[in-house]
Amino acid sequence: MMSRTVTITDNATGKTLECPVLEGTHGQPVIDSRALSTELGMFNYDPAYVTTASCTSKITFIDGEKGILLYRGYPIEQLAENSSYIEVCYLLLNGELPTPEQFTTFQKSLCNVSLLHEGLVNFYNGFRRDSHPMGMMVGVVGALSSYYHKELDIEDPAHRDLCALRLIGKIPAIAARTLRYKMGRYYVHPSYKYSYVENFYHMLFHLPNRKLNMSPVAIKALEIMLILHADHEQNASTSTVRLAGSSQANPYACVAAGIATLWGPAHGGANEAVIKMLYEIGDVKNVPGYIEKVKDKNNHTRLMGFGHRVYKNFDPRATIIRNICHQLLQELDNPELKPIFEIAMELERIALEDEYFIERKLYPNVDFYSGIILSSLGIPTEMFTVLFAVARTAGWIAQWKEMMEEPNMRIGRPRQLYTGAAQRDYVAMDQR
Ligand code: CMC
Repeated sequence: MMSRTVTITDNATGKTLECPVLEGTHGQPVIDSRALSTELGMFNYDPAYVTTASCTSKITFIDGEKGILLYRGYPIEQLAENSSYIEVCYLLLNGELPTPEQFTTFQKSLCNVSLLHEGLVNFYNGFRRDSHPMGMMVGVVGALSSYYHKELDIEDPAHRDLCALRLIGKIPAIAARTLRYKMGRYYVHPSYKYSYVENFYHMLFHLPNRKLNMSPVAIKALEIMLILHADHEQNASTSTVRLAGSSQANPYACVAAGIATLWGPAHGGANEAVIKMLYEIGDVKNVPGYIEKVKDKNNHTRLMGFGHRVYKNFDPRATIIRNICHQLLQELDNPELKPIFEIAMELERIALEDEYFIERKLYPNVDFYSGIILSSLGIPTEMFTVLFAVARTAGWIAQWKEMMEEPNMRIGRPRQLYTGAAQRDYVAMDQR
């Protein structure tokens, strides 16, 4: 069978270019337009990379129309139901589910690298207590590289594996320390007695004068939150990690760049924005008025937690997390959160029936519910995106490793359509 091509014709010169069409395992085919510049002397124009496939990847697949999310081929629903976050990390990094022996070794290895260097812990004292925790995360994760000079050869696969292990192993401790510093609490070390997720919970909340209630529902909710946020294909922060990595920057610096990108409210900062919005609405009776404000073109308010660049029918992560949200609120019976949840349910109901949202295919995304879950676990609003960063570290480093393992990896270098002043001569100051 003849392989599929797309022909591009320049009607000014009559020149044509036959571009091969590349087929992946799933999803839309891709036009290989790499010869555009050499053959037709042109670049692609695709601001915000809406139709650009920036790489090949075997890690995560999303079908935005059908609401499908697969990690290494496994549906997110099955992983959320049956797997653990650590198993998902192993899967993302290695491509296959671990055998029981591989799982135990991986779990032990993560525990072995989970302590923070005391020098790194000292870093925190330099931050103001009212710093945004994401700013602290960017600084501390970026600083990790300075402790591991001897194992920072990005050409060495063993060093790359160790960097991945250290990042995944230490990130809960870094996040917990960030929260505790802000709260003026002492640092809690990770313990060999707990699983990865229990340890995270313990490091966040342990107090010597109170019994820590590690409710299985709460631990399960945290586990699922981490699984759902572990990777999401070539989103803004992952693309940032890849672009930074393509310059052969060290992986700690690349992940710090990813954390900085995740911070934005259009990306990982949305769950924090959702909770702020729910408190701002304040009462179910104010929901219709708020929806009108969102629809008003002269008012730049967006319904936070709604819409997604890729998911245009539903976000499969939102479906999973919505159920957990209900369970958790029932189990923990937190009266403070009940009205907030009621506002969220009313917003969801009205928005899903409203033409404005239907026409634009705006559905609740994962962040619409994740903020409520994190609040009910006792995590302060400012920390929400930090939790997202903890989960996404596995995806970022798996994507970084995949890129570094490519034989022909080159520095990423987008081009542009220049629309500035035409070439002109310098004018001496006294003649302007
Ligand atoms: N509320 C109201 N209107 C919206 C919203 C929203 N949340 N999102 C998009 N629209 C409208 C937008 O005004 C535009 O309308 P029109 O065609 O009349 O100009 C249309 O829908 C298309 O919007 P867009 O900005 O071109 O869509 P996008 O694909 O570039 O943006 C988005 C995706 C997620 C940035 C956007 O939907 C948004 O800002 N949502 C709120 C923030 C949010 O929840 N972000 C979390 C995303 S999920 C977490 C993650 O995976 O990172």
